[in-house]
Amino acid sequence: MADKLRVGVIFGGRSAEHDISVMSAKNILSLLSQAKYKVVPIGITREGNCLLVEDVARAIKKLERDRKLSFQDVIPPENIFPSEKIFSFIKQDIDLVFPVLHGRNGEDGTLQGVCELADVPYVGSGVMASALAMDKAATKKILSAHHIPVVKAQVVARRRWEDSPEEVIKYVSDEIKYPCFVKPVNTGSSIGISKVQHQEELKEALAAAALHDRQLLIETAVEGREIEVAVLGNETPQASVPGEIVTSRPFYDYEAKYTDGCAQLSIPADLPARTTEKMQKFALQAFKALDCAGMARVDFFLSRSGKIYVNEINTIPGFTSFSMYPQLWEKTGIDGESLVDKLIELAMERYREKTYVK
Ligand SMILES: Nc1ncnc2c1ncn2[C@@H]1O[C@H](COP(=O)(O)OP(=O)(O)O)[C@@H](O)[C@H]1O
Ligand SMILES: [Mg+2]
Repeated sequence: MADKLRVGVIFGGRSAEHDISVMSAKNILSLLSQAKYKVVPIGITREGNCLLVEDVARAIKKLERDRKLSFQDVIPPENIFPSEKIFSFIKQDIDLVFPVLHGRNGEDGTLQGVCELADVPYVGSGVMASALAMDKAATKKILSAHHIPVVKAQVVARRRWEDSPEEVIKYVSDEIKYPCFVKPVNTGSSIGISKVQHQEELKEALAAAALHDRQLLIETAVEGREIEVAVLGNETPQASVPGEIVTSRPFYDYEAKYTDGCAQLSIPADLPARTTEKMQKFALQAFKALDCAGMARVDFFLSRSGKIYVNEINTIPGFTSFSMYPQLWEKTGIDGESLVDKLIELAMERYREKTYVK
């Protein structure tokens, strides 16, 4: 029998979304068949060191027994190496990378670039699509060029806000209006995002976003519902049934995302068939417009008057057992194990397509 494919699952990382990435990875590790793959979990600590988890089953058992433990606590110290070695490790010891990192240095095209340099296939989007999807302003530009509806927004450089605040305040009052949302251009998990009801709150919101990025996005608030659609595939992607996020908080903020009981997922979302079809169509168009690959979750707003907007595209969506992405596929007829198999197949397919020579 041929050697098993060595699948490197990379998770954790230095971004603010470290914890959710670890939870997603635990789920993915439990879904990957040990009979089919040699699974190599590679944890990145908050400090940026790499941890090689050799005995996955044992590590997971220990982690499940004590929820306070992290991967770092359950592996021998000799399996900890500095992040500079990740490139040579991927090149020599891994046949395929499954990145399970959210946010910067993982979902934004940087790790994808490392995989490209190492000439190793990887799950999900390539360098360009990952970088574009991570940047909320760039995403809007591409989607608008493809006539996909997005919410009106303005990018303001942090420097401009600091140098001419009055100009920015006037622009928001005249053009964007209130309520509006202020966000760092590169963000995830709602970090640095505020809903601004009145002009008096604008300064504080911009200061909060400016802690995370040099570019800030000010966007008209859409009053309505939040719907998400999962996409799976490469050249001929499929869209899942839509799911709805229902939260009692003012918006889907960090607490709503990661505190038990603060948000419910309703799958499939209770929508008219026509709206579902339109959202599925936009989800596929958005996926193709950015040239995504493998997987993505496309997030929408549905306004009270029934207007649909694409809010953002997540190229490495949350993948915990209770996350929207795997649950949408479960309800569409693809269980978790088949889903990770399919993602690996798609990564191999994309790699072969890229290296194709006539
Ligand atoms: N224009 C908007 N109108 C209404 N709600 C918004 C708007 N922008 C953001 N939100 C709220 O903030 C949340 C996080 O914003 P989002 O752009 O999705 O950033 P992130 O990448 O952090 O998820 C959304 O899920 C939604 O609840
Ligand atoms: Mg979001």
